[in-house]
Amino acid sequence: MMFDNAAKPQPERSGPGAGLHVAVIMDGNGRWAANRGWPRLVGHRKGGERVRELVEACPRLGIRYLTLYAFSTENWKRSNEEVLGLMSLLSRYIRAEAKRLKREGVRLRFIGDRTRLAPDLQELMGWIEAETDANDLLHLSVAINYGGRDEITRASRALARDVATGKLDPDAMTQDTISRYLDTHFLPDPDLVVRTSGETRVSNFLLWQAAYSEYVFSPVLWPDFTPQVMADILTAFGQRERRFGGVSS
Ligand code: FPP
Repeated sequence: MMFDNAAKPQPERSGPGAGLHVAVIMDGNGRWAANRGWPRLVGHRKGGERVRELVEACPRLGIRYLTLYAFSTENWKRSNEEVLGLMSLLSRYIRAEAKRLKREGVRLRFIGDRTRLAPDLQELMGWIEAETDANDLLHLSVAINYGGRDEITRASRALARDVATGKLDPDAMTQDTISRYLDTHFLPDPDLVVRTSGETRVSNFLLWQAAYSEYVFSPVLWPDFTPQVMADILTAFGQRERRFGGVSS
């Protein structure tokens, strides 16, 4: 269990867009490819290039935490070819980007249930997490075999176990306790959740964490999602007022 007592980090807010946590549902790869008569995997490959560009752009966009939904607990229902293709794209991304991520101050971590993933991918994930664990400029989290309900279920099991062994007093539990049992225990809650491709669903992404997040649904398909599109979204986001359930001051 990754339980720890450290206070959750909070983003710095020292300028427009500074220290933001932006989470992205990268949707539309399949349609982008289909529009061109190409196999879906070509869309995913192009999507991987957009990930590389966005990661590089984050420091100048003022994004300190970037969380990307790469593979959901529901994505296993896709064809074997597509699942294997996505898994291989993720392995290749880790191998190809390791040096650059390390050099450019990016700390890469994963959320989701990794126990169902191939052992060599799990090993690679653990390796890159250790390789980049001293980095602090950008905190990149990639969700693989992630689902919000699955995460809450796994956290509940761990909580119940800790109550049963006397490690946790149920009466002392707060919302913060729950946050610390989630995969995202090392992240602040997202300020902004972006979903691309015009779909307006949450799709089981960060259900607990996004309780007060702003949502932006962009019509752009993920393979066309440039850093400039993100910059425009952030400018619009900067003009929204977040009241966290309170009233305007
Ligand atoms: C959704 O598009 C996209 C995915 C299920 C995969 C996202 C993965 C990547 C962009 C690959 C690289 C990721 C990293 C972190 C290197 P879709 O296939 O559901 O599109 P559709 O709705 O048009 O069919």
